[in-house]
Amino acid sequence: LWVVKSTSVISTMADDKYLVYHGLMLPKIVHSEESLKHFETFEFRDDDVLALTYPKSGTTWMQEILPLLMNGGDTSPVKTVPNWDRVPWLEELRAAEVLSSMPSPRIMVSHMPYHLMPKSLFSSKAKVIYVTRNPKDVLVSSFHFHKMASFLDDPGTFDEFLDKFLEGEVMFGKWTDHVKSWQKTYMEDRIFHVTYEEMLKDLKGVLSRMSRFLGKDLSDEILEQVASHCSFKSMKDNAMSNYSLVPQDIMDNTKSPFMRKGIAGDWKKHFNPEQEAKFTDAMKREMRDNCNKITWDED
Ligand code: A3P
Repeated sequence: LWVVKSTSVISTMADDKYLVYHGLMLPKIVHSEESLKHFETFEFRDDDVLALTYPKSGTTWMQEILPLLMNGGDTSPVKTVPNWDRVPWLEELRAAEVLSSMPSPRIMVSHMPYHLMPKSLFSSKAKVIYVTRNPKDVLVSSFHFHKMASFLDDPGTFDEFLDKFLEGEVMFGKWTDHVKSWQKTYMEDRIFHVTYEEMLKDLKGVLSRMSRFLGKDLSDEILEQVASHCSFKSMKDNAMSNYSLVPQDIMDNTKSPFMRKGIAGDWKKHFNPEQEAKFTDAMKREMRDNCNKITWDED
């Protein structure tokens, strides 16, 4: 199945859609040996801000929220610059160019696990915000995303995709490995944990805590405005954030819109009881030592 391209940690999969980097499948459309070299040798600055997510957990949301919080609620960046250039992915192809001209404080996102982060993150004072989402909803969101994104493999049936997800045969590997890696860090007060569900329930409250973590003192009125700008509805209508600028042969919003539902609990419409039992068992097994740290309201 594997075609080894070099003796390095990078290989390429036979279907040609993914690179394999330290065992993780990364879509080739936005990752290359060069972009990963740039990632590995990236020099963090003390005032850098980085949002970390497993794919489909709220990355695009953070690409909207962070520029607003860091710029006192100024909406011009989010209204004029596409999200991938406004808050680039550190491991992706655009990063080198975009970050070389980005003034500090720089804002970025990444899907990488903790142990693969560039060394300079640990010696710097850069801040990290880690967003976790109920893995059942992550799976559902990812399933629909695989149908609309031609650069990802066909997900097959929901049942087949569920197995792949549990095995980690999906982009960025196992959800459990990712979440666990970022739960046990040496980052102390430089890391802020939040869940997608908390943001849905009380966005303004989360924004207030997040802005304090970032050292920004924003008025109630500004926080209100940011929360309103970052609502699902408002972002769905923002061409700079809803991926409508991507050609249809790469992302087909008619098959499933990128800004799809933006809710918690959609998994209930997708899982049958057997799938739910299997998924929950696997999560409990793998999160044995960590499960007390993350809970979701299942109502
Ligand atoms: P759904 O497919 O469940 O709707 P990512 O940006 O990490 O790829 O995650 C995409 C998911 O976040 C999608 O979930 C998308 O709709 C949701 N999302 C994006 N912006 C959101 C917002 N403002 N509020 C709620 N959900 C949002």
